[in-house]
Amino acid sequence: MQLAVFASGGGSNFQAILDAIDAGRLHATVALCVSNRETAGALERARSRGIPTLVLDPRDQPSPNEYDRTLLTALDRHGVTFIALAGYLRQIPSAVVTAFRNRIVNIHPALLPAHGGPGMYGRHVHKAVLQAGDRFSGATVHLVDEDYDTGPIVLQDTVPVLDGDSPEDLATRVLGIEHRLYPVALQLFSENRIRLEGRRVLIDPVSASKK
Ligand code: GRF
Repeated sequence: MQLAVFASGGGSNFQAILDAIDAGRLHATVALCVSNRETAGALERARSRGIPTLVLDPRDQPSPNEYDRTLLTALDRHGVTFIALAGYLRQIPSAVVTAFRNRIVNIHPALLPAHGGPGMYGRHVHKAVLQAGDRFSGATVHLVDEDYDTGPIVLQDTVPVLDGDSPEDLATRVLGIEHRLYPVALQLFSENRIRLEGRRVLIDPVSASKK
């Protein structure tokens, strides 16, 4: 699996992916790190390991077509076979979704389909969970389609919402499980164990020969 990781922020999920690769829990190579922000911590993490980076803000591109072309060319040039969004705050152009159909995943810091969609990122998500009075929150790894947070769900894990939680408390608790969940989900793709039946993601058991 030749992975491109897209990140706009600090990149702690990106780091969890790198750690899982180093530990042999994820059989993948990060071939490219893409960000829309020059100051993204994720870029620093990539550069310190000699991973190629691409900084590309769709808002600075001469046209949407030009943006699509630049992105697709870079993905092709680096031999990318799979894309992981890790705190990437821009929509993936439909040309890229089409070219990488069912080979793009995102991690969302809540239990989708609740608390997703446009504007639901970072603190906003955890605030919405608290306002809704949910007893549980969690993390969702899902396939990426043309909309925000609507693709089929691959894996989820939960954390309790505790009395007195602030959005930041909840964010910290959820991030803890994200770091575990995301590499596990990616490894399932790397082992080719994910199948889609309509909107249901089915996970093939490990074959006896591989045990
Ligand atoms: C995570 O909470 C992730 O679920 C969301 O954005 C945040 C990124 O955090 N999509 P980090 O940059 O990986 O630390």
